[in-house]
Amino acid sequence: MQLTEQRHYRLFWMLLAQYSGRVPGLFVVVKKKNFFTMPETVEDKANLELYLPHPEVRGMTRLNREAFKRTVVVPVLKVKKEIVNTLLKSLKHTVLQRPGLKRVVEDPEDEDSRLVILDPHKISEFSLGESDQEVLKQLNVHPEVSKYNLELTYENFKSEEILRAVLPEGQEVTSGFSRVGHIAHLNLRDHQLPYRHLIGQVIIDKNPGITCVVNKTSIIDSTYRNFQMEVLAGERNLVTKVKENNITYELDFSKVYWNPRLSTEHGRIVELLKPSDVLFDVFAGIGPFAIPAAKKKCRVFANDLNPESYSWLLRNCKLNKVDNKIKAFNMDGRDFLLGPVREELSRELPLLKEEQKTSFHIVMNLPALAIEFLDVFQHLLAGEPCSAAGLPTVHCYGFSKHDDPAKDVRERAEASLGTSLDGRCSTYLVRNVAPNKEMLCISFQIPAEVLYKRPCPDGGKEPLWHLDFGLHRLLFQAGPTSLALWATPAVWQ
Ligand SMILES: C[S@@+](CC[C@H](N)C(=O)[O-])C[C@H]1O[C@@H](n2cnc3c(N)ncnc32)[C@H](O)[C@@H]1O
Repeated sequence: MQLTEQRHYRLFWMLLAQYSGRVPGLFVVVKKKNFFTMPETVEDKANLELYLPHPEVRGMTRLNREAFKRTVVVPVLKVKKEIVNTLLKSLKHTVLQRPGLKRVVEDPEDEDSRLVILDPHKISEFSLGESDQEVLKQLNVHPEVSKYNLELTYENFKSEEILRAVLPEGQEVTSGFSRVGHIAHLNLRDHQLPYRHLIGQVIIDKNPGITCVVNKTSIIDSTYRNFQMEVLAGERNLVTKVKENNITYELDFSKVYWNPRLSTEHGRIVELLKPSDVLFDVFAGIGPFAIPAAKKKCRVFANDLNPESYSWLLRNCKLNKVDNKIKAFNMDGRDFLLGPVREELSRELPLLKEEQKTSFHIVMNLPALAIEFLDVFQHLLAGEPCSAAGLPTVHCYGFSKHDDPAKDVRERAEASLGTSLDGRCSTYLVRNVAPNKEMLCISFQIPAEVLYKRPCPDGGKEPLWHLDFGLHRLLFQAGPTSLALWATPAVWQ
């Protein structure tokens, strides 16, 4: 075939593919003979419209599913129905593989035959390659590729294809979202906003289990780290259930903080804990560190300033049957550290014996501010007997936009603690939050000179004795040059 002839054929099939869904006359003619054969014909790969919805949907803001219908011309092989399965196996790389689309259709002209749809992207110029022809020869199938009008509907397109066809050409399309139970949570750009309701509906249609789509309408800068949101499509129910690391949580997504992208980090910290360790969770949210830690038989003190988080935390403790392992508080993190945490540490640390393996961990996941809370540890246990064995380990989160985020977070932590952490801390990159913005976790044992105002004499290994008087315990500690005597309330059971 001459080049010019080929061009004409190509143009003809291109136009047929583009317009057959729009021109009723032509569609009827083609439909009458749904399946037709042509000798050697040409189709331009770039114009195969199998993955493109109808061009007229461009700019649509209210979803009209009917408008996505189109008919495209695809290559088919006519085969006897008895050998369809064998053929599908033998030509598996050439047969159309697209979820939701049939690969085998009735032959309108012969009830003993079937039409096997081939992938137009794999067939160049509507003719089979040599190896496929060889397979057909062995199966005794006539290797003639024919054309078939395949009707595509809204259901056959993926959400990305739909949105790419609708939104202005050349602009970024997003079909990505975070899933929180039955809620899909989007963060749309300005140019996507006119299409937001349509985008929401497409996400519901294409993602089983999602029945509500919301868009963030403010950046997270509220004290409680939740954000304003607009329901774009579906039910207006924002109370949902999520599962993370095999634990179920219930929450109201409009009132508390929940980020499904933190599950690995929650798991990583909980993995560091041993049964009988003590966890203080200063910014606990609805409990994704606290509850798994309690499940692991740690003793947990969990706090959150947001009364809503606090009440969902209590509810989740019950739901997961760990309410007897967690003491929950609803106060500012600073007060929590100066109050319940300090009390617990001053009661428990002196009693800690060398051979006891209990560790104390303090988790501070409020990355925008937590580092500024570290100054609370300065002299928190001043006047108490030193216990170098039980120095609590802090896991404090921070954001950084610095070139060297680990150094940046470490230096800010050092400034807040008033001491150097050189060689005494580790930093872990949790995730990339935005271009040039990282979330990190810095972990360190609180240096004794920070917690107690001075290094523990003899590494805090001076002998410790106690005498119990009813509800009180009297403790003595003798160092080479000092003697300490103090009382504590009864031991926490
Ligand atoms: C980033 S969220 C982390 C929640 C949870 N730890 C998690 O990983 O999902 C921070 C939490 O700190 C709470 N919060 C904010 N400011 C606080 C403060 N000053 N004291 C205590 N909690 C605070 C918020 O309500 C929010 O639940």
